[in-house]
This record gives sequence, structure tokens and C-alpha cells, in this order.
Amino acid sequence: MTYASYPALRLRRPRASAWSRAMHAENRLSPADFIWPLFVTEGQGVEEPIAALPGVSRWSVDLMVQRAKEARDAGIPCLALFPNTQPERRSDDGVEALNSDNLMCRAIRAIKDAVPDIGILTDVALDPYTAHGQDGLLDEAGYVLNDATIDMLIGQSLNQAAAGADIIAPSDMMDGRIGAIREALEEEGHANVQIMAYSAKYASAFYGPFRDAVGSRGLLKGDKKSYQMDPANSEEALREVALDLEEGADSVMVKPGLPYLDIIARVKDAFAVPVFAYQVSGEYAMIEAAVAAGAGDRDALVLETLMAFKRAGCSGVLTYHALHAARLLHG
Ligand code: PBG
Repeated sequence: MTYASYPALRLRRPRASAWSRAMHAENRLSPADFIWPLFVTEGQGVEEPIAALPGVSRWSVDLMVQRAKEARDAGIPCLALFPNTQPERRSDDGVEALNSDNLMCRAIRAIKDAVPDIGILTDVALDPYTAHGQDGLLDEAGYVLNDATIDMLIGQSLNQAAAGADIIAPSDMMDGRIGAIREALEEEGHANVQIMAYSAKYASAFYGPFRDAVGSRGLLKGDKKSYQMDPANSEEALREVALDLEEGADSVMVKPGLPYLDIIARVKDAFAVPVFAYQVSGEYAMIEAAVAAGAGDRDALVLETLMAFKRAGCSGVLTYHALHAARLLHG
């Protein structure tokens, strides 16, 4: 096929007016593209601002229900919940993850009760519950044990599903956990509970503010490089995705987001399945710091970065800017 060339062809022609630009847009953002990560904390009427994430707070369950209503009213389809577990409830084996009355389960039940028409995604990994801040069980040398951890993750997943979680999102990066969790969900009558696998989750320096938010930063010894991926690798991301799909993942996630758009595009290209991205805490903090430094317009930066995920092939994005962006788009 041959195209006309200049001057018959002028690519600026369709860009000349707003109506025409709108008509030619190849991708669109809508509030339905966002999953809103929220941090839940103990108490009544409690809001705890998170210093490392300006504009983001931990909320007690009662106030979390208000956030859920705001999200629904803004057109956001799904929330992602993370607990800030009290230090005395953390242990080496993270057994609080299995407690059917833990903070997470109470938050799920309260939101489902008050706002039944919003989806709830729950992170599966032991780090909010372990005294050492790692995502799994450790051997004497401090290595995160794969198969023993999976047994805990199955229990954690079933606990969340029983409380009403709609999407189980394993973020732990243990080998084989998706198949094991899927099998357990089927056996326990949760056939319609989805799994969104954090398939390509990198050992990233962009998670710092999140670890403050869930209270694990000070606890974490060492790093997570023996299970999270090396930022140098992309072929390996495709293998991770292939395995998770084979094991029964309904959708996959790439995390962090903006520095890994190449991975998103390759995964979408190779597998044509729903791909989600997590624009993580450090990315949020970077945008807010840029705005505070006068380096750019907040609304424009937020919408441009979110559009980048759509362009790369994402079905949706977990973003701390979700409510703000949804309201901008709703007008
Ligand atoms: C826990 C988990 C982490 C994030 C989501 N789930 C942190 C980690 O792996 O250390 C990070 C999210 C963010 O930075 O916003 N496994």
C-alpha cells in the first residue's frame, strides 16, 4: 500500500481542531480504566496521612467505606485493598493472613455490605503480616521458601475470597502459586473469584513509599531479589506470563508501570490477554514531587501517564491517582 506524500498528505490537518483531535484519538481514558489502591488501618474515624505519598492516607474501615462510595460515584469499577497490620499481629510466619477477622477481611465485608456494586481486588503475599517484611516464609538462612509459602498463600486467598474478595491478586512471585490457588478456589466453591496474577513483578526501587504505607519498610531485612524479577530481563517476563496463564490466571499484571511499558506492550502482543499495570507508589511520589517542584501541571502529567498505559495495551491501571483522574475525566 502506498500513501500520498507531502503536500497532499499533511498529518497536521486532522490535528487542527479539538473536535477533529477527539475524533482521531486512537485510545481513550475513562474512569473504568482505574483500579484504586487503598490502605486500611485500625480504629474508628482514623485518617493517617502517609508522608512518603503526599495526598494518600490510610483509612479506618468506616472511612474506607466512604472512599468506596466516592469511587463508585466517580465510575471506578474496582478497589485494591492493603492492610497496615498492627506490629503485635505480625509474626515470622505471617499467620494473621489466615485470620478471618483480620483488618483486611473486616474491610472487605464492610465495603461489600455498603457498596456491593464495586469490585474488590486483594493482594496475596505475606509481607503485611510478617515480622521480617518478606512476602513468604524464611528458612534459617533467610531464603524465602517457595512451596511452604504457597500453602500459606492458599489459606490467605481462601480467607479473602470467603470475606467477599472478587479478584485475588498474588503479588508474591512464588513459582506455581497461581495453579495452586486456582485449584483451591474451585474446590472451596469460589469458581467465580478471578485471579489477576502479578506475573511480571520486578524487584524495584519504586516500592519504597508503599512499604511505609503498610508499615513494612523498617522491618524488611535484605531485598526481594530471590523472587521478584531482575529489571534487566524481558524474555523472562514472557515466561512468567505464560506460566501464570497456563495455571489459570484470568488476567496478568506488569509492575511497576511507566518504566516497564516495553514489557506491557510485549506481553499484550504475545498473549492477547487482559493486561493490567500497577503505577506504583514511587511513580506516584515522583509525579507529586515534580509538581511540587514546579516542573509540570499535575492534571496533565497524571492523564498523560495514564494514557501511556492504554497506548501500551493495558486494559486498566492500578493508580493512586484513580479518584482524581476519574473526576477529571467525568468533568
Ligand atoms: C507486596 C506488594 C508490594 C507492592 C504491592 N504489593 C511491595 C513489595 O513487593 O515490596 C508495591 C506497590 C507500590 O509500590 O505501590 N508484595
